[in-house]
Amino acid sequence: MALPLHTIKDQFPIFKNRPELVYLDSAATSHKPDSVILALNDFSEKENASVHRGLYDLSTDATRRFENVRKKVSDLLGVSNPSSIAFTKGTTESINLIAHGLIRKKLKLGDTIAVTAMEHHANFIPWQQLCHQRGALLNILPVTKNGELNLSGIDSMLGPRTRLLCLTHISNVLGTINPIEEIISIAHRKKIPVLIDAAQSTGHYPMMVDSWDADFVVFSAHKMFGPFGTGVLYAKQEFAPYIEPLNFGGGAIRNVTTEHTEFLDYPYKLEPGTPHVAGVIGLGAAIDFIQQLDLAETSLFTRNLTQKFKARLHELGGARILGQPSNFGSIVSFQMENIHPHDVASFLAQANIAVRAGHHCAQPLLESMGVPATVRVSFSIYNTEQDIDKTIDALAALKRFWSR
Ligand SMILES: Cc1ncc(COP(=O)(O)O)c(C=O)c1O
Repeated sequence: MALPLHTIKDQFPIFKNRPELVYLDSAATSHKPDSVILALNDFSEKENASVHRGLYDLSTDATRRFENVRKKVSDLLGVSNPSSIAFTKGTTESINLIAHGLIRKKLKLGDTIAVTAMEHHANFIPWQQLCHQRGALLNILPVTKNGELNLSGIDSMLGPRTRLLCLTHISNVLGTINPIEEIISIAHRKKIPVLIDAAQSTGHYPMMVDSWDADFVVFSAHKMFGPFGTGVLYAKQEFAPYIEPLNFGGGAIRNVTTEHTEFLDYPYKLEPGTPHVAGVIGLGAAIDFIQQLDLAETSLFTRNLTQKFKARLHELGGARILGQPSNFGSIVSFQMENIHPHDVASFLAQANIAVRAGHHCAQPLLESMGVPATVRVSFSIYNTEQDIDKTIDALAALKRFWSR
């Protein structure tokens, strides 16, 4: 049976330590449940060994638990092969690994990389810079006024020289849920591989990577109830032998001579040095927690909170919501008439309401929608309708204060 949602907040100690906190910034980072914090502490207190090295129990236990997390990740993603899972520092590192460890050597003058206008900088700048370095072109699929991808342009954007299509599953600004399965199949008809930035979706929505046929999937543990500094790169087996490490060192090798190094196979060749063992164990605990949820139920719950918040903003008046995607998740961006988003966020902060203001690391998107900054509210399973009430009350107070 799934964990009941009405008591789930009790499992997040941050809210016991800060009872006044209204946390509406889970798109930036989510809070951690007791079980994840306990797993992190337990590992340091009771095991605390490096992996893949020692022959004593502590180290072999740590190695077994560490390797077991590959299986947990592959189950979470809907992937049949745990060896397709590499551990990284997070989404940003995973994308850079594909950009510079795989695509770079294939990318010739005049080739193209396709991205969308709604990418987080983490899935935009690496491709922009790679294109600059290789004399390639960055093709950008535009976003409609509603905040959805304009798919009418996708056929002409993907050509024989497109080496990769990179897109986000869920926009971190607009909450748009992109039809990735349809987009992957369009790209595959043209034999173009697809990288999915799943930073906002993994752990919150059911993932079916094998059946979507995605070629690369990346995400960060800290956005799905897990620790900082830990993330994942999934790569389809056919690409794995060709991905080259960007960092070199111990642990990732089969044999080293003074002249030559023979590397281990994927994923180990991408994991040199002592890994963030506790982080990976914590990621495993976060997945155990998520596996006790019914993701269809939790995603509907957070979508309903988002919908209610949008309706309440509308009633309040003086707020402009950015985009109206028909399929959206737990994120909403808005502006208050005549009040800078930073002033809105600072005012809310005084009422213990944590929201994000700014460009949300998606400046090309904001520019294409004609706004420099927004206030972003994002919901998670520990949010409540009272959080919405408090936020709307605070925004009403801000409006009164500003109109004096
Ligand atoms: C859609 C998306 N992609 C990538 C990232 C970057 O994640 P990280 O900073 O954990 O590497 C974020 C973080 O906000 C994001 O929302």
